[in-house]
Amino acid sequence: MNSIFLDTLNKKDTHRPPVWFMRQAGRILPSYQELKKNNSFSDMMNDPNLAAKVTLLPINDLGVDAAILFSDILIVPEALGMGLKFTDKGPLFDNPLTKFEYPSQHLIKNLDKLNHVYDNIDKVLEVRNPNTPLIGFCGGPLTTFCFMFRGHVRDVTFNDAIKFLYSNPSESKKIIDALVETSIEYAKNQVKHGIECFQLFETYGGLIPEDMYNELILPASKKILNSVRDLGIPTIFFPKNFGGGLKYVNKDLCDFVSIDWQTNLYSAREMVDKEVGIQGNIDPRLMYSDYASIEKELSKLIPFGRDNQDWIFNLGHGFLPDIDYKKAKFIVDWIKETNWKRD
Ligand code: CP3
Repeated sequence: MNSIFLDTLNKKDTHRPPVWFMRQAGRILPSYQELKKNNSFSDMMNDPNLAAKVTLLPINDLGVDAAILFSDILIVPEALGMGLKFTDKGPLFDNPLTKFEYPSQHLIKNLDKLNHVYDNIDKVLEVRNPNTPLIGFCGGPLTTFCFMFRGHVRDVTFNDAIKFLYSNPSESKKIIDALVETSIEYAKNQVKHGIECFQLFETYGGLIPEDMYNELILPASKKILNSVRDLGIPTIFFPKNFGGGLKYVNKDLCDFVSIDWQTNLYSAREMVDKEVGIQGNIDPRLMYSDYASIEKELSKLIPFGRDNQDWIFNLGHGFLPDIDYKKAKFIVDWIKETNWKRD
């Protein structure tokens, strides 16, 4: 495969940084909105033809250097028997863990619920341009744990989950263990079906103190990431709002780390182990400003891009639904046309 994204992951020199965006599959693309008029989100995830189509839309519509599988991190709790529904306002479980005194006893593995994802991977590989790499993913242990306790889509605090983590550590550990076991199986199967890179989305990693994350959760994240790397596939860890916790990120954990928009790229580069590459970290809301302002901000990245070959351009978190996709396309074109002065 001829891919600037895979070359960068493999620490080969390239003339520019590769680019892809978190939440690029779906959400902001008019072509996706068109498909959504006749198909629900769940329908599209469960139909290999549609899922493959949506996975590849950003390659055509934005020109990004990699595709990410059209799926969701909440599929794993669904495979633990939690009954997942995607409502107009967001995802919701039939059995949020707040209902139970001993929630771990209510997690019943049904790994068949993950099979459609493998069919979708097979389909993407069948229909893609052979030089388009495919990124697989799953949720980080803390992020997934938090959603499992969310009783209502309006809850964005995750207070119930964090309260449980403090008040019931032994049950919490059992839940995290169940998540890790299922996530490993899921991730390894994604590799077997042909993904070329794997990202762990620990979007709510910053909900607890960094040292607590390091002690309680990081070993679980590491197990998932290492299970993929052991199969020869590069890994990206996205611990959002991790702050100074980035000092815990080293080459034994992951190959690349994705940096949020709160953290300066140079500070991140200093904190993270030199052998780990960097991904990130444009504030997605930059795309609310005009083209001249966007270009001005992007230009500030040229020195970083010149000096850091092990950098993948991305956002510091995913697209927001009301972002104009033309601004995203503008960013991709700018990255491709800019002289990164790497010779
Ligand atoms: O990046 C991609 O586009 C690939 C597919 C992907 C989705 N969700 C599809 C999706 C990925 C990688 C995710 C990850 C995910 N899902 C995370 C972690 C990363 C992040 O962006 O924060 C989280 C926390 C979830 C849970 C989730 N799924 C929420 C809170 C919501 C509702 C709000 C929202 O962001 O839209 C979803 C729905 C969802 N997942 C959509 C898509 C395309 C929107 C569905 C629609 O079109 O109605």
